[in-house]
Amino acid sequence: MTGSPILVAPSMLAADFGRLAEETRRVEAAGADWIHLDVMDGHFVPNLTIGPQAVSALRPVTRLPLDVHLMIEQPERYLRAFVEAGADRVTVHAEACSDLARVVRQIRQAGAKVGVALRPQTGLGLLDPCLDQIDLALLMTVNPGFGGQSFMPEVLPKIEALRKRFGRHIQVDGGINQETARSTRSAGADVMVAGTYIFRAADAKQAIASLKGKA
Ligand code: DX5
Ligand code: ZN
Repeated sequence: MTGSPILVAPSMLAADFGRLAEETRRVEAAGADWIHLDVMDGHFVPNLTIGPQAVSALRPVTRLPLDVHLMIEQPERYLRAFVEAGADRVTVHAEACSDLARVVRQIRQAGAKVGVALRPQTGLGLLDPCLDQIDLALLMTVNPGFGGQSFMPEVLPKIEALRKRFGRHIQVDGGINQETARSTRSAGADVMVAGTYIFRAADAKQAIASLKGKA
């Protein structure tokens, strides 16, 4: 992916939940490439967030791809519901799947782009069986569950190692700001997820440009 454009996917977890549609339009106008939606089930992670109903409510609001990050156990139970709700991309955690290859096929059959995520401590080996079948690998740069945590620099060598043998999207998520985006880009990541940094910024357009290394 050397030379491919850097994409930014604002995490709506940091948006004002009473005004999700307006917040989505605001980051679209500010230059976002995808809209990142964090789904949590209170089991895989301790937090609870949104389900397919919220995804379908946002679908008509934006033309941008909806990038749905499932932090849930047994994601196979809900894949179809999220794709029918309008998810363009579905990312599951390898740690949450007893048969990852099967889940990857199910997402593809449902008609969405396929992503697989790893917690910071999970080794790249879990991706090996499906690396040729996925569109995106999400290397978490915090422990999943909450926004506003600090970036874990120990993930950088994992990004570098994956980039040597994976030519599709490498997404990073957690504690991404202007500085940490720069180091993950140098390591080979090309899709920046950021919540706090974008939604707390005085100027979302400038914040998004800075994640691309353009401001
Ligand atoms: C964490 C979520 C992230 C989170 C990022 O489990 O996957 O998408 O919202 O938030 P920030 O950018 O605030 O670390
Ligand atoms: Zn996320």
